[in-house]
Amino acid sequence: MLKTCLTAVRGPAVCVGRCFSREVSGAVSTLAGFSSPPLSTEASLYVHWPYCLKRCFYCNFNKYIPRSDKQDVMLECLQRETETLLKLSQVSRITSVFFGGGTPSLAHPSTIAAVLETVARHAGLSEEAEVTLEVNPTPVGSSKLEDFLHAGVNRFSIGVQSLRDDDLKVLGRDHNSQHALQTVAEARRLCPGRVSVDVMFGRPGQSVASWELELDELLSVCDDHVSLYQLTLERGTQLFRQVQKGQLSVPSDDITAVMYESARRILQKRGYLQYEVSNFARNGAISQHNMSYWKASQYLGVGPGAHGRFVPHGEEDVCREARTQTLEPDVWLREVQQRGHGTRRRIPLTHLGLLEEVLVMGLRLVDGITHQHWQLFSPRADLHQILSSSSEVQDLQQTGVLILDDRGLRCSWQGLALLDSMLPTLLLLLEAYTQGLQEQQARGATIGDQRDGGQRVSKPG
Ligand SMILES: C[S@@+](CC[C@H](N)C(=O)[O-])C[C@H]1O[C@@H](n2cnc3c(N)ncnc32)[C@H](O)[C@@H]1O
Ligand code: SF4
Repeated sequence: MLKTCLTAVRGPAVCVGRCFSREVSGAVSTLAGFSSPPLSTEASLYVHWPYCLKRCFYCNFNKYIPRSDKQDVMLECLQRETETLLKLSQVSRITSVFFGGGTPSLAHPSTIAAVLETVARHAGLSEEAEVTLEVNPTPVGSSKLEDFLHAGVNRFSIGVQSLRDDDLKVLGRDHNSQHALQTVAEARRLCPGRVSVDVMFGRPGQSVASWELELDELLSVCDDHVSLYQLTLERGTQLFRQVQKGQLSVPSDDITAVMYESARRILQKRGYLQYEVSNFARNGAISQHNMSYWKASQYLGVGPGAHGRFVPHGEEDVCREARTQTLEPDVWLREVQQRGHGTRRRIPLTHLGLLEEVLVMGLRLVDGITHQHWQLFSPRADLHQILSSSSEVQDLQQTGVLILDDRGLRCSWQGLALLDSMLPTLLLLLEAYTQGLQEQQARGATIGDQRDGGQRVSKPG
């Protein structure tokens, strides 16, 4: 239950559609009471670098071990696809860029610089825009940090995972704790206040007490941002097989729930405010890029397997389109060379699909979804109208896990850990409400009639 929640959103490789909402192909319906958000000319950009030096035993992300050096052709194709997607979209300003992977710290700094130049040439990219690079804390990654900074990166996200060397070996990482500490120190020297650390719990053989000690140790060296990852046993990975064969065992769900709670407590005590299910920041150092996903803003996804969601040119009546790029790098490279992009799938989102995204992503935030934010996507059907009269929602409120008030909709401290179990109820209510509207629309009823529907629901004060 916690697993989906705790996979920190790091880029569109974490797909909203795949996790929670049913993607709908075909015609896009316009519902009375709902409307597209005002057409935005801004978007964030995710760039996927698909290569790694070795496969970690737990990872099933879209990553490949290259058989030959692909730097030049990757550079050419990342630039070309960036240019194509910017032209296809109506985006004239990129608000943040995230280089994720795979291991983007294996890319030449000049490749990163060239992609950023392409963005700047075809859309606005302000000096202040957050530009994050995921870094594997190996000596090679660490030695290139300064060059990445000169290339235009201004935030590093470092995959520390653990400070226990034995555990790093079990995870199949190609770094040790010393490398991790050196990389974090170097990144903090170069980019003070803009370094994030990924740390993983629920690892084989891990106890609550050892996790608490390790996190405390990590917090004394890390910068202002921490992302917590709960280990997910992914089918097809070496770790999955080892656990299945009984060669390794992972903590039970009850224990990982305790680990999550203790991490939240420790982080809070050390001044890191939780702002999302698995993200914590000091001194306001929240991830602007990931915030754009949680706020359901537009984003472009460039590179093998990247996801994007934006309004294409000339299709203003489409409220947004979900695009997925071809997964396999060699095929993607060929497609980009032949037609300028490697888009494999385009799915027009319905208004319901977009509202599902606003709901699912927004509830991950500690501040949840404000009425003002919801109204941007749904000007006439507010959260109270959709949810207040449901006895299930009233139960969730009474048990103190969900809050719906004058500010908006959000999870309580306790509720944030249970988000995945609440979402099906909320999504069904949203779906039922939109269906009701459609039926009434078909019968020619007015919005006012729909709102009453025989039982008037109170509006927020
Ligand atoms: C896919 S990696 C890419 C960045 C970089 N290669 C690294 O390993 O840090 C991003 C994050 O996802 C985490 N991750 C990958 N597979 C996971 C899994 N099965 N369970 C939990 N976290 C996972 C990684 O540990 C890492 O912190
Ligand atoms: S380095 Fe990162 S992307 Fe590559 S296999 Fe390991 S966790 Fe996955």
